[in-house]
Amino acid sequence: MFPSLSTLTLFSFLGVIFVHACPQETLKGPDGRCYGFFPYGFNHTKSDYVCKNFYGGHLASIRNAEMDKFVRSMALDLFSGVANFWVGGKQEDKGRGWSWTDKSDFVYKNWEQGQEQGGNGYHGLAVNINTGKWHSLPEVTSLPYVCTVYYKKRIPR
Ligand SMILES: *[C@@H]1O[C@H](CO)[C@@H](O)[C@H](O)[C@H]1NC(C)=O
Repeated sequence: MFPSLSTLTLFSFLGVIFVHACPQETLKGPDGRCYGFFPYGFNHTKSDYVCKNFYGGHLASIRNAEMDKFVRSMALDLFSGVANFWVGGKQEDKGRGWSWTDKSDFVYKNWEQGQEQGGNGYHGLAVNINTGKWHSLPEVTSLPYVCTVYYKKRIPR
């Protein structure tokens, strides 16, 4: 039997509801995107790779004070016993300027004094959980990380 028109209407209605819900164990940010807080710890490149290939997103970009507050307060709750966590800011080398891995404009800033200059070689942007201020850390550092999540594929290793 063919589904009736009202059945199809019901399914497309449910579809709309599910499309707007965040994937399991992710939180809706003030910008309406879904964010995952992952405590396992990878270097900056691998963290962004995992966000992209397993969750369809990127490391989080912090584009305004509201996002900054959201990300930090959730991290305070969810990452216990760590000092810093990765978001998507990166600098290829000292003096090259900062950018977000999701290509958002790098406008809003919340640097700890002296940290914006970065260091020699690839550095990532780490948020200090206790102060909320941004630090520049060598890319190879393993830290918990925050991703925008569009779907969940499987558990990364
Ligand atoms: C980052 O971690 C991945 C996976 O452990 C590793 O293959 C890669 O070489 C690391 N990158 C750097 C720059 O250490």
